[in-house]
Amino acid sequence: MPEQKLGLKLSDLEDDVVVAAEAGSGRLVIVKHGGRVYALDAKCTHESGELGQGYIDNDELICSVHSGAFALESAKASENTPWVTDLRPYRTRVDGPTGEIYVEI
Ligand code: FES
Repeated sequence: MPEQKLGLKLSDLEDDVVVAAEAGSGRLVIVKHGGRVYALDAKCTHESGELGQGYIDNDELICSVHSGAFALESAKASENTPWVTDLRPYRTRVDGPTGEIYVEI
């Protein structure tokens, strides 16, 4: 899969703060959590809520509109919030020397 530079560095991210980013022809949300960087689709699978306005609870991204929950690791919808379906996960890589974040699109 081709890799794209996000224009974000690891030092730009705060733990558990959701950041919206452009990648390819779409939009993603980027989250630093537990020492890792996750990238997921920016649009909720329920009623297209903006996940960039969501928040992190434990290991999940929570949609701010109707509280749909998605696992950061897999992007799968939580069985506790059956009104949402899985998001697409994206593989990320942080370049060691520069801290630049890359995502596979
Ligand atoms: S729009 Fe996200 S849970 Fe409804």
